[in-house]
Amino acid sequence: MSYRVLFVCLGNICRSPAAEAVFLHKLEQRGLRENFLVDSAGTGGWHVGKSADSRMRSAAEQRGVIINSIARQFRISDFKEFDIILTMDDDNLRTLMSFSQKSKLSINKDIIYPIMSFSTNSDLKEVPDPYYGSGDGFEKVLDLLEDACDGLLEKIITNL
Ligand code: 4NP
Repeated sequence: MSYRVLFVCLGNICRSPAAEAVFLHKLEQRGLRENFLVDSAGTGGWHVGKSADSRMRSAAEQRGVIINSIARQFRISDFKEFDIILTMDDDNLRTLMSFSQKSKLSINKDIIYPIMSFSTNSDLKEVPDPYYGSGDGFEKVLDLLEDACDGLLEKIITNL
């Protein structure tokens, strides 16, 4: 049985595809890839079908992390199909909570966590959206995600 992990941001072209790729990279390095199913999604649908932002892809590639996911929008069924859902910021978290309240399914909200709650090196509570910011925003996002994904993986491994 795979442990199923979903990363969620707004557009699914910057932060959550980067989180997905960083997490996958860590799984590969530790020989754990076969034990996990990893995906990402956006709360919004504007970029559905697109590759990740080229600035995010090239910043990740410089660290040996390949982002090759294609954007998709979050679906209500994701609440049932994943064991843990990680949001990048408070807006994503609020949106998922609102989706869960409107849904007719009975949803376990205890599977939803801000990814930064797993960080051990930063006090930031959110991964800042780099889309409209300056160039080094993508590096900052990757730094935060590397740290938070390390913490997330340790937590999952120790609780399995
Ligand atoms: P993401 O970044 O949520 O990290 O994928 C964004 C990408 C696109 C937009 C907003 C955020 N946008 O408004 O198009």
